[in-house]
Amino acid sequence: MQVETLRWSNSRLELIDQRRLPLEFEYVSCDDATQVADAIRDMVVRGAPAIGCTAAYGVALEAQRHAGAARAPFDAALERAFAVLAASRPTAVNLFWAIARMRERHARCRDDSTQKAAVALLELAHQMRSEDIEINRAIGRHGAARIADGARVMTHCNAGALATAGHGTALGVIRSARDAGKRISVIANETRPYLQGARLTAWEMVQENIPVTLVTDNMAGHLMQQGRIDVIVVGADRIAANGDTANKIGTYIVAVLAERHRIPFYVAAPLSTIDLGIADGSAIPIEERDAAEVTGFRGLRWAPQGVSVFNPAFDVTPAALIAGIVTENGVIDRPDAGKIRGLFGR
Ligand code: MRU
Repeated sequence: MQVETLRWSNSRLELIDQRRLPLEFEYVSCDDATQVADAIRDMVVRGAPAIGCTAAYGVALEAQRHAGAARAPFDAALERAFAVLAASRPTAVNLFWAIARMRERHARCRDDSTQKAAVALLELAHQMRSEDIEINRAIGRHGAARIADGARVMTHCNAGALATAGHGTALGVIRSARDAGKRISVIANETRPYLQGARLTAWEMVQENIPVTLVTDNMAGHLMQQGRIDVIVVGADRIAANGDTANKIGTYIVAVLAERHRIPFYVAAPLSTIDLGIADGSAIPIEERDAAEVTGFRGLRWAPQGVSVFNPAFDVTPAALIAGIVTENGVIDRPDAGKIRGLFGR
């Protein structure tokens, strides 16, 4: 099944409402940049590459709304769109990368009519969406070569088709390995507190008939100790210049356990997730989310009123724990600053 996480339909952006999955499968529509920013903040759409592509369409929607206006109000509307989208979530660098690309295209259109600029911005959003799928297929090919026939692959959170424009990064590696004829089974960590593993990764794997076993996060150590995990593949929200990697909260625990049990721990991510402007993981901004995600779920509350809560949405895995970063340009084994620079040709 081809999952269309985001699609352009009748001059609107449609997003699978990931808050409702797997109980309901439905699209929500966005008409302007504010609605798109709200959808990103509220997790209608999530996952670093999907957030980036969605933000690009947010800019395109705003341009479409103001096409035909005079140049100054058009430019002012786009500036507001860049700002509102950039304020939606702080950790996934793909968001800022996508906004920078749209900003650059906007600047290049400064001598064109606003109608022509709006067309160019929508074309770039479409291009970024289709590029993302191609990039994920390349990540999948490179990563699949590291996955043995019969491998039992643990993953954390959802770095699947739902977290991208399609195919996925970590789950893209799994899909590509399966497509190459390998028998793969997946162990999906449920991923407290927002349950992206239980709800989204499990759903994607079931749709595709890829054998998947759901476990709670605190079972990971037990499974590794029992020799039931061969390899781990996760996604990333932001990779610092030295390879330190921010990903969904709980990833660091899995990486530490993997080292203890000598299980290769791979990060699968596009080059757009690498932030060369940040020297190491200590400078990666970590989003803190609402206490309600920890005290309950979907209206059911299990923690007492009055308890204080800490809810960081991401943690940082040091590069030293990472066997390789799988990108569209190949795998960076045992990543460090020099190898990462080399990949960018610097
Ligand atoms: O809070 P989320 O669901 O947006 O977090 C997503 C992740 O941590 C993913 O692993 C990451 O964005 C990579 S998606 C290909």
